[in-house]
Amino acid sequence: MTQTVNEVQVENSQAQQWDADHVMTTYARFGVTFTRGEGAYLYDASGRRYLDMLAGIAVCSVGHCHPYMTRALQEQAATLLHVSNLYLTEPQARLARRLIELSDFERVFFCNSGAEANEAALKIARKRGRGIRESKTGIITAKNSFHGRTIATVTATGQPKYSEAFAPLPGGFFYVPFNDVDALREAVNGDTAAILLEPIQGEGGIIPATPEYIKAARDLAEKNDALLIMDEVQTGVGRTGTLWAYQQFGIVPDIMTLAKGLGGGIPIGACLARGSAAATLVPGDHGTTFGGNPFATTAANAVLDILADEELTANARDTGAYLQAELAELATTFPDVIGEVRGKGLMIGIGLHQPVAKAVVKHALLDCGLVINAIGDNTIRLLPPLTLTTDQAEEGVALLAKAIAAQ
Ligand SMILES: Cc1ncc(COP(=O)(O)O)c(C=O)c1O
Repeated sequence: MTQTVNEVQVENSQAQQWDADHVMTTYARFGVTFTRGEGAYLYDASGRRYLDMLAGIAVCSVGHCHPYMTRALQEQAATLLHVSNLYLTEPQARLARRLIELSDFERVFFCNSGAEANEAALKIARKRGRGIRESKTGIITAKNSFHGRTIATVTATGQPKYSEAFAPLPGGFFYVPFNDVDALREAVNGDTAAILLEPIQGEGGIIPATPEYIKAARDLAEKNDALLIMDEVQTGVGRTGTLWAYQQFGIVPDIMTLAKGLGGGIPIGACLARGSAAATLVPGDHGTTFGGNPFATTAANAVLDILADEELTANARDTGAYLQAELAELATTFPDVIGEVRGKGLMIGIGLHQPVAKAVVKHALLDCGLVINAIGDNTIRLLPPLTLTTDQAEEGVALLAKAIAAQ
């Protein structure tokens, strides 16, 4: 049944009313109801087109409704949606094999989100640590980090504004300034179970770790028989120009956590581990009903197929470099507004001299047809689909210029 534009508009305003009346107020939402997506573009109820330079916050890695992915999901939906993790499915086993072949890990635990992937990692670290010594339970994370919203992961998140309302919080978490090797050295000891870090702090403002910092973390974990956990929930699956961001630091962590871009829009999380970390959990220790179900793992398998076929990791590197150069050029047009352009591949932060990020983002959405994101008042974040072309990158920069000029 095809709807007329008027019918869709009525539904749109009805959706906004239902949302306002009945959905918990956990998000500061814009009044736009998206109805359709195609590649790097989104469409709202009135048929208006938007260039999506956010991709569901690093989720829609292969763009919206990629035909190959749509076909794979349609076929899987008509074949088998779900069975309990008490049984095997081919898509889950296939995805496990591929992730292990494509990385430096030995085993994977599948779940449904980034927070859950980090929960699994924290449970592994604690169980393994306690197996060595009962007091070996400390988890060290970085200030300004973000690791999720469950009680444990919001505690791991080194930003009290996310956690303090939910006290009492679990103990044994310690926070160090990011990129400060001396502070890390001071904090790690024999009672440390794990160091948990993002290779690039995402929610913290697109702040890349320095190679020295990650190398020191690897070294300190080794010396103290602790685990190094890399949270690649935002950086993983090609976004930074290598399949996994840790590959750019010349180290291998003990655990890597994934979610977001892995499923391309279908919820999935994964906790990959090697060595003793891969052998810590035994039957009964951990689990989740939906984790790695055939539908979600078919989505992730399709994402990996498309990534390889279309060389999207290389595209993230090259188009990302192009986009960053264009943004640096834009900074010369708006020297009073734009400061630093930072990030890797298609994970880009634009630091602003003035606290106008939220105003620019709102104007970009409502008046320019550009979907971008603000982190605080002084950073604009771009996380476009990895399929982004140079023409689309140029279009995005032109739309952003328009939004900034209107401030
Ligand atoms: C680095 C990082 N870790 C964990 C999470 C939490 O992931 P999820 O929202 O899927 O639970 C996020 C989400 O933004 C993230 O950026």
